[in-house]
Amino acid sequence: MKNDPKDQNKFFSDEIIKWYENNGRYNLPWRNNVTAYKVWISEIMLQQTQVKTVIPFFNAFVKKYPNLKSLSLASEENILAMWTGLGFYKRAKNIFKTKEIISNNFNNRFPKSFEDIVSLPGIGPSTAGAIMSIAYKKPYPILDANVKRVISRYEAIENSPKTNKKLWFLSSQYTPQNNIFEYTQGIMDLGATICTNSNPSCNICVLKRKCKSAFKVEPIKSKNKKINPTKKINFILATSKNSVLLFKKLEKSFWEGLWTPYEIDESETTPWNKTYMSKDKLNIKHKLSHIDLDLYVDIHRHDKKFKIDSNAKYKWIEKKDISKYGLPKPIKSIIESL
Ligand code: ADE
Repeated sequence: MKNDPKDQNKFFSDEIIKWYENNGRYNLPWRNNVTAYKVWISEIMLQQTQVKTVIPFFNAFVKKYPNLKSLSLASEENILAMWTGLGFYKRAKNIFKTKEIISNNFNNRFPKSFEDIVSLPGIGPSTAGAIMSIAYKKPYPILDANVKRVISRYEAIENSPKTNKKLWFLSSQYTPQNNIFEYTQGIMDLGATICTNSNPSCNICVLKRKCKSAFKVEPIKSKNKKINPTKKINFILATSKNSVLLFKKLEKSFWEGLWTPYEIDESETTPWNKTYMSKDKLNIKHKLSHIDLDLYVDIHRHDKKFKIDSNAKYKWIEKKDISKYGLPKPIKSIIESL
């Protein structure tokens, strides 16, 4: 029965599993000594960040917090501190919230059911599916950006929010009952390395025989590159000997909850009025996903620390201790260069 849909689904998953066994990225650190905890941390890190960027952050994280028990003692600040440079800091806050829920409601064991897992902060159906299939080897579908691209091309359907439901349906149909670990990692790897966004390698793709878009993918037009707005921010960084004066950013925008120098608005005043011994001005440009930052940092060197009459949450932090706090990467770099 050539056109039996079950055979079609089997072709898709069998080819991916075989391909993974011969070509998969076995060395990725979260694929060794697998635990649900480590799969969770890796999937959260990988939600908005590329594999090669995640690897050192993941290794440092599981070195410091190898399991739920060690993480259960961490503060939100400790977790934010591990996130400096990875961006999308909400993910770190969700890790803190989740480990609190797991400690309070799940006896500090990572939950085992899809329903419990998908109820946790920062975990949607695709991340929950990845945890079920990679950590527990249960046949749950996933639909991350790579999988969307592979399936929509294979079926020659549009890859857009409009077709999301259809893509979930197809992903469920293709998900096999056996070898689910290899299948899930395989489709992720195929999407990341063969069925790439631009210039996919159809000639070496194991799905090419039945893929409705094989050798037909249009080159991505560069006009799709979006141009971000630029935001100028002025900071005053007060220093005294080996300490810097930092403030916890409370507004609900980027870097919320991280420590930065004092941000001055149009009034150009600070809630302290102290003479300083010397000053310097630095300019750093830093790109976020949605905005380009043009940061101007006035460094004011004071002979001693002072108190501030302000409701803001602030702290004099010794330079040697800044790794214990959540700081945006460019701010951390400036302080380390002082
Ligand atoms: N992207 C999301 N999850 C991943 C995983 N487990 N391996 C590689 N890339 C991924």
